[in-house]
Amino acid sequence: METRIMEQNILNTIKTELINGYKEKQHPFRFFTLATFNGESLRQRTVVLRNILDDFTLLFYTDARTPKVTSIQNNSTVSALFYNPNSMIQLQLVGNARLIKDEEKLTALWNEIGEHSKKDYITQLAPGSSIKNPNHVSYNIDKHHFCAVEVIANTIEYLQLKRPNHLRILYKKDESNNWLGQFLTP
Ligand SMILES: Cc1cc2nc3c(=O)[nH]c(=O)nc-3n(C[C@H](O)[C@H](O)[C@H](O)COP(=O)(O)O)c2cc1C
Repeated sequence: METRIMEQNILNTIKTELINGYKEKQHPFRFFTLATFNGESLRQRTVVLRNILDDFTLLFYTDARTPKVTSIQNNSTVSALFYNPNSMIQLQLVGNARLIKDEEKLTALWNEIGEHSKKDYITQLAPGSSIKNPNHVSYNIDKHHFCAVEVIANTIEYLQLKRPNHLRILYKKDESNNWLGQFLTP
């Protein structure tokens, strides 16, 4: 196959798999590792992929009081790592994170969240605060700290371990927002 077609086919597969990631509960791309750097220290954590737009913008939800939010406000450059152990595919996205500020959009997202899951955003104490007993967490009734964050991807690095040859491709967005892939030595 012509390499340009191959590279575009793989990009389409990446898109489909990320869509499956947020739509299918059991899909390994449902979760990704988000890395942030606040200027002093690095921190990584698992988050749930909530959506992906046409241009590979990712969406995740968090509590506005978490360190990742402060970190993103100081330095918007983040990395998102996905791994599928079944297909041995790794994706490393690097991009810029942005907190969604549009109140209407935020309310619409908040209203879609199940009642039980809303608990993640309504603790009285900020996430990470010390508590005496893990069964004694207090929740607010009428106040939440829901925060939705978009990650606008600038590069996507794809790696699949397979025989006879591993496959590694670096995709970058050009000035017209087209994704161009470059095969790399694995
Ligand atoms: C399976 C799994 C899914 C998680 N999903 C989220 C999520 O979608 N959003 C979130 O803020 N934290 C999520 N967490 C918790 C984070 O990994 C992290 O502990 C928390 O957000 C605090 O992060 P921070 O202190 O680095 O900001 C998840 C943890 C696990 C184990």
